[in-house]
Amino acid sequence: MIAGISDISIYIPKYYLPHEELAKARGVPVEKFHAGLGNQNMAIIPNWEDAVTMAANAALPLLERNNIDPDEIRQLVVSTESGVDHSKPVASFVQGLLNIGTRCRVYEIKHACYGGTAGLIDSIEWISKHTNDDPKGIVIMTDIAKYGFGTLGEPTQGAGALALLVEGNPRLFSLDTLLNGIFSKDVFDFWRPTGHRVPIVDGKYSIDCYLMALEGTISHFRTNHGLKVGELMDSLDYLIYHMPFTKMAHKAHRHLVEIEYKDAGREEQEKIFEESFARMVAPSLSGVREVGNIYTGSVYMGLVSLLEAEGKKAEGKKVGLFSYGSGCGAEFFLCHLKPGISRIVDSIGFKEQLENRKKLTFEQYIQFYSKSDEEILYYPEEARGFKDEFTRFVFTGFKEHRRQYA
Ligand code: CAA
Repeated sequence: MIAGISDISIYIPKYYLPHEELAKARGVPVEKFHAGLGNQNMAIIPNWEDAVTMAANAALPLLERNNIDPDEIRQLVVSTESGVDHSKPVASFVQGLLNIGTRCRVYEIKHACYGGTAGLIDSIEWISKHTNDDPKGIVIMTDIAKYGFGTLGEPTQGAGALALLVEGNPRLFSLDTLLNGIFSKDVFDFWRPTGHRVPIVDGKYSIDCYLMALEGTISHFRTNHGLKVGELMDSLDYLIYHMPFTKMAHKAHRHLVEIEYKDAGREEQEKIFEESFARMVAPSLSGVREVGNIYTGSVYMGLVSLLEAEGKKAEGKKVGLFSYGSGCGAEFFLCHLKPGISRIVDSIGFKEQLENRKKLTFEQYIQFYSKSDEEILYYPEEARGFKDEFTRFVFTGFKEHRRQYA
């Protein structure tokens, strides 16, 4: 049995800051964010949400709409680099909130943004091996991309979570797990030392590392699949890249075209880039443009965007996914979209979530992002005006060093 994905759910916080507001406050031309980075808005997480509540808010609809008894879940993996505790995994908090039973493997995975893919592949392989009782697993990617105020990373912030239902004989798509292209290397491009609230970033170097990893995974993938240089793009219908910001997908795809068509002249390469980008890459971009970076879930939010943009056209198609995590680890792998996959777009409701968000002022954004977790008491002062917008699970502060949720 080859396991795969039978359903996807996405959860995006209900607040956003337009890049226009950020540009005005920081004295930067807005074109730098709109055209230079390719982003329009960034999701802002309020103080009463965290990686745990986003994860639970993403996963609950999977149980509800598939009529799954929480006791049926045999594996619950949460991938995050926004963990709330050095020991207790986010996955255990989620297990409690969702009432998932005790006969379940529950753990957290961290490898920067690559952790989501590591968790998913691990789950697919584990579920594939367990043929006796039709096991079900849930993989969640949940992250808050927060940088320091006024830093170059600030306009690439975002937050969100995805939950994927893993089963044998999957309804939506299957993934190849054995012939993937793999690359990893010990680098310092983006890291968050223990105790730091925000990451330290060597921004330009992080882009170089990302492109180096792309090249490494492609070379390995070609070898595994017996493809010659120049044959990769023709073997795929779509490409989804890890996207900290929209323009990263442009940079990645341009690099791929240069590698794959290295003997073509500049003009020919540009023609290939323009045509293939519009057809293969552009359908996956709408989410990151509106939400920003969501680290572990980034590639999978790209997949949801693609399904929304392409509808029936995407059915039966082959997608190449590139997952990158700083530090660094990366994987290039194939995803086969099943006939009928377009039917799930309405139940995911990503577009509706984006349309129903509330715009924050720059001052509200500063207020949300200035408080440490420890300062948040049961229903914080600033939550008063927002209380009727609370989502199903909220973080309510600490009691005797224990995080409390309602
Ligand atoms: N009008 C239009 N475009 C403008 C402009 C203007 N007025 N001013 C600048 N630009 C363009 C620049 O030309 C540039 O475009 P190109 O990259 O195509 O040359 C773009 O806007 C960005 O401007 P800068 O080159 O000045 O870049 P920056 O110094 O602001 O830093 C960044 C950009 C490095 C991405 C920074 O935002 C950052 O550090 N981000 C966090 C790290 C990150 O996302 N790294 C990506 C790879 S690592 C990864 O993928 C893992 C992860 O998720 C974190």
